[in-house]
Amino acid sequence: MGMINIKIEGIPYEVEAGLTILEAAKKCGYEIPSLCAFNHGECNQGSCRVCLVEVTGARGLVASCVYPVSEGMEIKISSPKAIEARRDSVELLLSNHNKNCQQCDKNGQCELLHVASLTGARDDAFAGGHSEVHIDKIAPGLVRDTSKCILCGRCVERCKNAHGLGILGFENRGFETFVAPAADRSFNESPCIQCGQCVNVCPTGALMENSEIGKIDRAFKEGKHVIVQAAPAVRATLGEEFGYPIGTPVTGKMIAALRRLGFERVYDVNFGADLTIMEEGTELLGRITNGGVLPMITSCSPGWINYAEYNYGDLLPHLSSCKSPHQMQGAVIKSYWAQQNNINPEDIFVVSVMPCVAKKVEKEREQLKVNGLNDVDAVITTRELARMIKRSGILFNRLPDEEWDQDIMGDYSGAAVIFGVTGGVMEAALRTVYFKLTGKEKEDIVFTEVRGHEAGIREASLDINGTTVNVALASGMRSAKVLLDEIREGKSKYHFIEIMGCPGGCINGGGQPYVRSCFLPDEDDDIMDTYKEKRAKALYSEDERQTIRQSHNNPQIKALYENFLGEPNSHKAHELLHTTYAARERFPEV
Ligand code: FES
Repeated sequence: MGMINIKIEGIPYEVEAGLTILEAAKKCGYEIPSLCAFNHGECNQGSCRVCLVEVTGARGLVASCVYPVSEGMEIKISSPKAIEARRDSVELLLSNHNKNCQQCDKNGQCELLHVASLTGARDDAFAGGHSEVHIDKIAPGLVRDTSKCILCGRCVERCKNAHGLGILGFENRGFETFVAPAADRSFNESPCIQCGQCVNVCPTGALMENSEIGKIDRAFKEGKHVIVQAAPAVRATLGEEFGYPIGTPVTGKMIAALRRLGFERVYDVNFGADLTIMEEGTELLGRITNGGVLPMITSCSPGWINYAEYNYGDLLPHLSSCKSPHQMQGAVIKSYWAQQNNINPEDIFVVSVMPCVAKKVEKEREQLKVNGLNDVDAVITTRELARMIKRSGILFNRLPDEEWDQDIMGDYSGAAVIFGVTGGVMEAALRTVYFKLTGKEKEDIVFTEVRGHEAGIREASLDINGTTVNVALASGMRSAKVLLDEIREGKSKYHFIEIMGCPGGCINGGGQPYVRSCFLPDEDDDIMDTYKEKRAKALYSEDERQTIRQSHNNPQIKALYENFLGEPNSHKAHELLHTTYAARERFPEV
């Protein structure tokens, strides 16, 4: 696109044609408050009217987020008329907003409060009626509270863009409009995969994860043995909640914080990830050599499992029977670890810190129980962990770097670390499959063919000792659908497929810190384009630092098989570490 000339507040600027006024103004050094506009036009409803500016020649004020710049345009951001109009827009939103901010988990990160402070809006400027409130608290993953919704439509667009699902939409008309799954059903009673991508984009507290901090508080009070395990992608993002630049790994400080929160043991889910690779790699080789169902599809993303059960019941035999890493590790804690420490498994309370909202749903699955006990008792997101640290008065940035507890489950490989990024599970599995097929380690350990951080499909064909292994991977259900339809039509050429529920994998999970350019320093203007890459680098660099980089070389994994499980895919391993799936009705009777 060529350049054009505009004026802002009478000062001439040259800007790219095709930009909106909002985008052009930002490039020229002005911040116009905005609310419904999000992520380079991912959501551009022009509905909130918070971004109004005056434009010469236009009739009245225009919404700068949807109005394009044109040659010779003169824009006034700070005219009294524009300032007053923006403030009125925010005050109108506040007049129909539940203002119990001190009880809202979004407090401190609410974009409505941010634009209220930017525009000088007051919450009592307009009196009037309130829309009827619709609340959904019964889904394990998500909470919807329309008293805080500003009808910006970001969640509606994200669900469509990431997954092609369109679970959320606008119901009713006019003042009675609200956002909900079809017919105002609960997330639990609709084919929602509870990935939490809608929570990631909600500017207020209208959509949140269903917090389980209270459950953990109760377990401590009851004197349970409260054990915590943290997923790989959490260390790559937790620092963002404490002011660290995006992509700063904070593993040591996170461990120190978890210890100060009172957890009896602090474990890394990476051990469980190594265990998953041992089981999944063995299962894949078994299927290839014994004529089993192919392609085999990974099963560690619960958002993806939900999608498969709702939409592709006929393809469930393609899913690996492996539980996800934190579930496997929870099962080991309540069996092997309990035995070693002479503790009744019923007195153990396992907490998983996850980048994911769907893990809250996963841990409730009946199929995962062992001897009537859940493997995992509570799941908190990266954001919830940050809240726990903040409420406990722990000065995170001043914490020393500490190490994971080393007994039984302390070792992990680089292969486990990269589980958190799309392609990581595939690469980790290939490192072990290569060893099993050739009897030696791959010299160049990196499988660059499957690396990346973006949503979409990647594929590769690998020749391992004369055996061709065709692989593909997808993140986000919109991409996954393409691969799944190929299988359904009998056209799939792959042996092994990795599917992750969230676009970009766990580094972009629905429980990760919010990424908002309005809360970040100026140099992070392009953050929506770069944050996934920065977070992925934090994990790849940890893989490079590990001396052990293949799951099968983890000494504590070897010891677990020698002392307890026997061998991968053994009867005992199946009892503890594998699961089943069942097709689900999309709209069950309620
Ligand atoms: Fe422009 Fe909402 S941000 S109308």
